[in-house]
Amino acid sequence: MHETTRKPAFPEDFQWGVATSAFQLEGSSNADWSTWDPVLSDIPEITNHYAVFREDLKLLKDLGVNSYRFSIEWSRIQPRPDTWDDEAIAHYQEIIDILRSYNIEPMVTLHHFTHPKWFLERSPWHKTASIEKFLRYTEKMVATLRNVRYWITFNEPYVILIGGYLDGCTPPGLRDVPRSLVALKNIFTCHGKAYDIIHRYVPDAQVSIAHNMSVFAPWKKWNPLDRLLKKSANFFYNHSIINAFQTGVFVIKFPFSRAVEIEVPIKNKLDFFGVNYYTRIHLRFNPLKKMGVELRHLDIEGHGLTNIGWEVHPRGLAKVLRYASRLDLPLFITENGIATHDTEMKVRYMKQHVDVIERCLKDGLDVRGYFYWTLIDNYEWLQGLDSRFGLYKVDFKTLKRSPTSAATYYAYLIQSRSRM
Ligand code: BGC
Repeated sequence: MHETTRKPAFPEDFQWGVATSAFQLEGSSNADWSTWDPVLSDIPEITNHYAVFREDLKLLKDLGVNSYRFSIEWSRIQPRPDTWDDEAIAHYQEIIDILRSYNIEPMVTLHHFTHPKWFLERSPWHKTASIEKFLRYTEKMVATLRNVRYWITFNEPYVILIGGYLDGCTPPGLRDVPRSLVALKNIFTCHGKAYDIIHRYVPDAQVSIAHNMSVFAPWKKWNPLDRLLKKSANFFYNHSIINAFQTGVFVIKFPFSRAVEIEVPIKNKLDFFGVNYYTRIHLRFNPLKKMGVELRHLDIEGHGLTNIGWEVHPRGLAKVLRYASRLDLPLFITENGIATHDTEMKVRYMKQHVDVIERCLKDGLDVRGYFYWTLIDNYEWLQGLDSRFGLYKVDFKTLKRSPTSAATYYAYLIQSRSRM
């Protein structure tokens, strides 16, 4: 797929990146997820990235990215409540140092879904003690790691809450609305306080969360109940969080229930906003399903469905970026990617989404970076090893990495769209 000669809209300092998370690449026997999913007992080190990270970081250099978002595996840093693992800390510092030597800006995520086992056993998010535990870990990281300016406190806090407290498909595996609300308050309290801690140590820090924004649609447009669900999901997912960062209050309102207001100390505790965007979701009211909602992905625009059944809907990215622009802050697409074996489809997905960003820039939106998810094939939480989000393919028998045409295309895209 060739680019026509054009004047690129991407500013010179646009951050072209790739995003990963530690656990999905390297596992960790001390993390809650390692025993949560039986698949992991056969592949505890997943891609063996922890051992071969230097080679993997070279792939970033080959791509020509100037930014890299990765996470710290908390369970490696603090395997027991009273133990800090200095070697693990040195390991993540080495990643940062290598990135700096390649002129690649690190963006560090402190929490990307996994926890040390002891954390979930003793003080999961619905217990007040979770706050102090997370902040101790945060302070340790911020005080120790050098040369990091961009920090993400939490990756997708709503997913932690929905998976862990409403759907029960992720640790701690509860289905408990009252506890989910306490957990929400505690997690966002951690964000607000972590924001201050990070700024205390790194005065020019840029701090955010990475929030997964989605486009919602009614399954049947003519059905008022489907339309009501769409409206509620859109408000909850895309707007209540933005409002909370502006006002310090979460307003949670589901159909046929009273609104709940939760105060959280996060007003203005953001320097940019990280948007993870993948897909559009159709919703149907179905009293036989959990919470009366049935979700579905429909291939309405003919772009195809991904390996994990998600609709490809590039236009939705513009919509969610416009929602996020209400914050009046720089926006980063902290994740965007596709699970597929079909690398031509991957190339198309990337091009279509980058085209959308280019149009958004021309329309005046303050988008500062794009991070493709992800560098190499990895472990996908609920789907195991076959989802194939990587720019580089991993043979899970030999653990050999090989570039897909999407890697070549991304390198080309970065070159051709950047204003040099
Ligand atoms: C998560 C990643 C995940 C990706 C694809 C994002 O919601 O942050 O960890 O692999 O989606 O499902």
